[in-house]
Amino acid sequence: MRLRNIPGSREVIAESRYVVHEEETKAGCWHDIFENDHPIHIEIGMGKGKFIMALAKANPQINYVGIEKYSSVLIRALEKMEQEEEPLANLCFIRMDAENITKVFAKDEVDRIYLNFSDPWPKDRHAKRRLTSKEFFARYDQILTGEGRVEFKTDNRPLFDFSVESVKEAEWNLDVVTYDLHHDEVLVRGNVMTEYEERFSAMGNPIHKLIASREK
Ligand SMILES: C[S@@+](CC[C@H](N)C(=O)[O-])C[C@H]1O[C@@H](n2cnc3c(N)ncnc32)[C@H](O)[C@@H]1O
Repeated sequence: MRLRNIPGSREVIAESRYVVHEEETKAGCWHDIFENDHPIHIEIGMGKGKFIMALAKANPQINYVGIEKYSSVLIRALEKMEQEEEPLANLCFIRMDAENITKVFAKDEVDRIYLNFSDPWPKDRHAKRRLTSKEFFARYDQILTGEGRVEFKTDNRPLFDFSVESVKEAEWNLDVVTYDLHHDEVLVRGNVMTEYEERFSAMGNPIHKLIASREK
């Protein structure tokens, strides 16, 4: 998702109380930022933030960090946050490219990573840019706790198949794999839909999901 440039969005983001700036100086400090010891869950490529805002409202005992590459997209999440009656103290955002994620979180600082409907980068030569490539799993390995996990949803079958292979190549465990989440009575319980999930499931596309961990 890359929206048309929105004039002034960089300035709004620079002044937003919901955005953490100079994120590369924050590794190891996230519990101080939230002022508690609650687990930290991040969503990479959160888009307009529907999913992570719903999780933050439902789980006040978990801290959430939403990561988005483009100002023109992040600003839509900020607009939603401004409409909330009560500010969500357990949610903040970073505008950054996830390639730099290991500079922003320290070893063992993150308890869960959500990847939802990540960009497919269909050309082979761009495979390393996919958020579920083995290169990205190596980055996740550096910041996740021992029990931490990655949860990934998509309707894109080639990307999903690639992701399953990446998990295996990275020698992580595949704890969950479903090719039709919405028709899996157990796994669908508590599922929070993302914007893309609503759109693609309304078109009849099955939603695939995997959960990967490296706990022995
Ligand atoms: C297809 S959209 C999905 C949005 C949302 N997760 C959903 O399911 O509705 C993918 C989002 O990931 C963002 N994104 C892609 N690559 C990224 C990266 N390397 N770092 C941070 N965000 C990224 C894009 O800008 C876009 O907003």
